[in-house]
Amino acid sequence: MTGEGKTIIIAVDGYSSSGKSTFAKAIAQRLGFIYIDSGAMYRAVTLACLREGLDPADNRDKDKLSGLLERIDISFKINSISGDYETHLNYENIEKDIRSIEVSEMVSIVSKIKEVRDKMVLFQRKMAGRKSVVMDGRDIGTVVFPDADIKIFMTASADVRARRRYRELSEKGIKAGFGEVKENLVQRDRMDETRSESPLKKADDAVTLDTSNMTQEEQMEWFLDHFSEKLFSE
Ligand code: DC
Repeated sequence: MTGEGKTIIIAVDGYSSSGKSTFAKAIAQRLGFIYIDSGAMYRAVTLACLREGLDPADNRDKDKLSGLLERIDISFKINSISGDYETHLNYENIEKDIRSIEVSEMVSIVSKIKEVRDKMVLFQRKMAGRKSVVMDGRDIGTVVFPDADIKIFMTASADVRARRRYRELSEKGIKAGFGEVKENLVQRDRMDETRSESPLKKADDAVTLDTSNMTQEEQMEWFLDHFSEKLFSE
């Protein structure tokens, strides 16, 4: 199946901080596929709104939002020293800025807007283009690539997820209290699940992976156990 000519799409959806990006990056690296963090794209739009003092929830700012979406370009580059993926907004590295608590608090509001989603979905489909990809997000297996070859839905308990997110922020030097981090996470999940535009939901043909008690090595083992046959059979 990974033979020449045939491109593979692996969709990894699920809850905030369920370990999607670490898992998706690891499989992309293992298979030599491109990794695309679709959440970073919604975060980039949110950052642009914050910088321009634009209130996405206010209908009076609708025209300004359309203008902003026209001017926006989002891309990913690999840092040649750390090997990490970095998000760029109109050629500026914004990787650290998009992980701030301010952006995290506003991103669910921005990602509810149909116009924003339509534009991001176009970007995402274009980025996948003719290369095999692993893309993580909330609606990849349901909306962006409903015909993805492999669909995985990731989850973990709220406590485990909040601890992960707290550690991630601390490592990046971003200050936030544990309670604040957990509250933001739970609230974001609720908004993601209940919005009318492309809500977070498991695709019927996705396989669930609960990472509450799993190490990264165990997750990789699980992936290879489930999908090796599909990926390497030809
Ligand atoms: O994966 P993340 O936590 O960085 O995503 C940030 C936000 O973006 C999240 O609250 C939901 C939204 N999102 C989305 O609506 N659709 C996606 N495909 C990816 C993320």
